[in-house]
Amino acid sequence: MASSVAIGPSIMTADLLNLGAQIEVAEAAGVDFIHLDVMDGRFVPNISFGLPVCAALRRATSLPLDARLMIEQPEHYVDAFRDAGADRITVHVESCLHLHRTLLQIGEMGAVAGVSINPSTPLGAIEEVLPICGQVLVMLVNPGFGGQSLIPSMLDKVRRLRSMIDARNPRCLLEVDGGIKPSNIKRVVEAGADTIVVGSAIFNDEDSVSDAVAALRSAIG
Ligand code: DX5
Repeated sequence: MASSVAIGPSIMTADLLNLGAQIEVAEAAGVDFIHLDVMDGRFVPNISFGLPVCAALRRATSLPLDARLMIEQPEHYVDAFRDAGADRITVHVESCLHLHRTLLQIGEMGAVAGVSINPSTPLGAIEEVLPICGQVLVMLVNPGFGGQSLIPSMLDKVRRLRSMIDARNPRCLLEVDGGIKPSNIKRVVEAGADTIVVGSAIFNDEDSVSDAVAALRSAIG
């Protein structure tokens, strides 16, 4: 189990009409970073938001901005997301042909270089680039939509990745995203995740953002 755990809300499930206010309450609730799910309608079957929203968030918060590019050929956009204020830029192993080059490119721009991996992709696909990654994001659901249920077999994948990271690049963050809520966050952390993205369990109609973040933290124990 990781010694310290960072929690960041995904703005995918936030009230986008009031995004500034939503970020303000999330920040006051003590979240550690803000996660942006950038979707192009090609790599994933949904379209979300892009560079202007990243730039607007940069003006609204000093928290790290964690941009995950669920887009085809992300290498064409990493510079622009860095310019728009992203501190961590994650590309998908499945959509980035020259992944090694792109991760180096992200690092050279001064951002944390991340790679994300879909549920159906074996961990072997990222083994060769692990030494140059600042973070690996394991998708616990198939990407595209908030509010889905965590795929239980992904917990073992997180466990196996924890061992790989400890052996080959212990400073690399192990991030997870998809279906995380108070009832399962402890299992995800015990499996080895240290950086947790949460969408609908933070931004929803039932709880305040501060109660939601407190419930997640207390569930970790
Ligand atoms: C899927 C999305 C979601 C989202 C989090 O591509 O990336 O995982 O950020 O939403 P919840 O926590 O509702 O699954």
